[in-house]
Amino acid sequence: MSKTSELPGFYKLSPEERLKLVQEFAGLGDGEVELLRKTGALELEQADRMIENVIGTTELPIGVATNFRINGEDHLIPMAIEEPSVVAAASNAAKMARPRGGFHTESTPPVMIGQIQLVDVKNPSDAREKILAEKMQILAKANEQDPVLVKLGGGAVDLDVRIIETFLGPMTIIHLLVDVRDAMGANVINTMCEAIAPMIEKFTGGRVFLRIVSNLATHRLARAKATFSKEALGGEEVVDGILQAYAFARADPYRCATHNKGVMNGVIAVALATANDTRALEAGAHAYAAMDGAYKPLTHWERTSDGDLLGSIELPVAVGVIGGATAVHPVAKVCRKILGVQTARELGEVLAAVGLAQNLAAMRALATEGIQRGHLRLHARNVAVTAGATGELIDIVGKRMIEEGKVSFERASSILKELRK
Ligand code: MEV
Repeated sequence: MSKTSELPGFYKLSPEERLKLVQEFAGLGDGEVELLRKTGALELEQADRMIENVIGTTELPIGVATNFRINGEDHLIPMAIEEPSVVAAASNAAKMARPRGGFHTESTPPVMIGQIQLVDVKNPSDAREKILAEKMQILAKANEQDPVLVKLGGGAVDLDVRIIETFLGPMTIIHLLVDVRDAMGANVINTMCEAIAPMIEKFTGGRVFLRIVSNLATHRLARAKATFSKEALGGEEVVDGILQAYAFARADPYRCATHNKGVMNGVIAVALATANDTRALEAGAHAYAAMDGAYKPLTHWERTSDGDLLGSIELPVAVGVIGGATAVHPVAKVCRKILGVQTARELGEVLAAVGLAQNLAAMRALATEGIQRGHLRLHARNVAVTAGATGELIDIVGKRMIEEGKVSFERASSILKELRK
């Protein structure tokens, strides 16, 4: 009999009952089920309240990037990521920023956009006028949805109306601008948009379809800049190489995607450590990079009159420190404490600084020794462990293989044999 993935009532089961069904379906051994059952700090019960159909939790390493000095204060940066070298690279770049004072950051108020899609109006320009004429009433209705947010100094602050052309004809798109304070904000925005949609229909006679947050958070930006001295970078030639790498990214979307991926290595690792919505950040960042019609680097690099390298970054940062998983996930809460940030704006600024550092580190490595050497060190250590090395032998075997330019299980085994003789 063929297996079925139709499992009515699956959602009503306990994680343990679900595990049993999944075990049968996938032919998992008891040991494999045990791995899923085994939780870290996030208990299964808590996980079961976070999403649907839970059968386990997963873990990633959290590394701490060192050397970060942001606006005159030192920070340790927790980063959750599966990729080797990212944490080391961030720490390295942050170290190179220190001689010229580290990172300087700023941000806009935490204003997010909610979109309401209005169609079937006779005249979109008239509809626009009608909506704008009732702006105060609409904002008041939006703010009724979250008096606590309003009390905290946030809430719906403005309305914008755009008319766009689509293959189904013109559409009137209402942007509700909401200061979401320390939340990521998607929930409150969606609630507000749904609440005001009937008013929009009433004022215009049109029909509303979508009512949803926009992940292109152009009003919620974080910026960071830092000067890297040419000495710290390794000399004028390294500065030249980095500028070559940057020029390449500016001119070529194939390179630019990887350039920005490097930026997001840092941004997403911190976002994940603090249980933020990484997909929202990723979508926002890449859409922002393409705002001018061509896909561009999120960072900007130039040589200063002293021959140093000045870097800056600007990106949308829809992150929160309250609400959602950020407030529930026990490890995320500790990570935020390590970071030492109190507000969503501060967190966004840290993300910008880490993204800039990550980009600098990647370009420097690429323009000099290449990226593989750093990766190889960790890889060689892992191979040494697989071959049975323990304690200090791990480093010795790893190093020998790198020096010889051959990293393999066989070579690690024979070096180990030799050393143990
Ligand atoms: C790897 O995860 C990130 C890099 O490819 C970024 C870049 O090429 O700039 C090294």
